[in-house]
Amino acid sequence: MDRIPTHVAIIMDGNGRWAKMRGLSRNVGHRVGAESVRDVIRVSLELGIKYLTLFAFSTENWNRPEEEVRGLMHLLKGLLQNEVEFIYREGISIRVIGRLGRLPGDVLKVVKKAMELTEDNSKLYLYLAISYGGRAEIVDAVNRIISEGRREIDEESFRKYLYAPEAPDPDLLIRTAGEKRISNFLLWQLAYTELYFTDTLWPDFRRDEFIEAIEDYSRRIRRFGRVVEE
Ligand code: IPE
Ligand code: IPE
Ligand code: MG
Repeated sequence: MDRIPTHVAIIMDGNGRWAKMRGLSRNVGHRVGAESVRDVIRVSLELGIKYLTLFAFSTENWNRPEEEVRGLMHLLKGLLQNEVEFIYREGISIRVIGRLGRLPGDVLKVVKKAMELTEDNSKLYLYLAISYGGRAEIVDAVNRIISEGRREIDEESFRKYLYAPEAPDPDLLIRTAGEKRISNFLLWQLAYTELYFTDTLWPDFRRDEFIEAIEDYSRRIRRFGRVVEE
């Protein structure tokens, strides 16, 4: 491939529909979806993608039925606990972005432990967006700016107040399950990101489909508002 994206962001959607089609509970869909997460992490390591941001739970997802929220939190905790060794050994650094104060105490503890353990790794930066909302991120940034008493800001200095100022903007955004919307993901960062939509439901989005998305990206011409000779 010509151009590998530095940063890929993914809206992992369609777990519920995948389960419903099979007469299973939504939480089973989430569990099978975790297999796809493993696949995209492995491929990212192989291709040399440096940043991978996965939308795991949005600020709006708190409004889902209690049982589903509990199931998702339990799954997240279990995955972080069970996979953190593998993640560490592979040289992956885990970073969690979002309003973490809303997470149950036991989940937050595991999250913090995983981040601390893998802090110095640098082969792949894996950002997990949990209890994340793009508007919440911007509002949180503005509140920090106000609390520091700043009176003026520009784009570069604003960026420093985002949850992950060290990460470059995503080059490619993938959304599975057919919906063509952003659903409050990375509103600031997606300004010039290439968008890729597929009908495949997240639990079916495996290795080959991910590679296909990267290949599609590698053929695109990005202009950033300029004139580019083709
Ligand atoms: C995405 O799958 C996972 C989360 C939002 C946590 P969904 O649960 O949204 O699946 P659908 O959209 O209902 O099929
Ligand atoms: C977006 O999916 C959030 C995650 C994938 C975590 P949703 O399923 O919550 O989005 P909507 O409700 O279809 O916009
Ligand atoms: Mg959905």
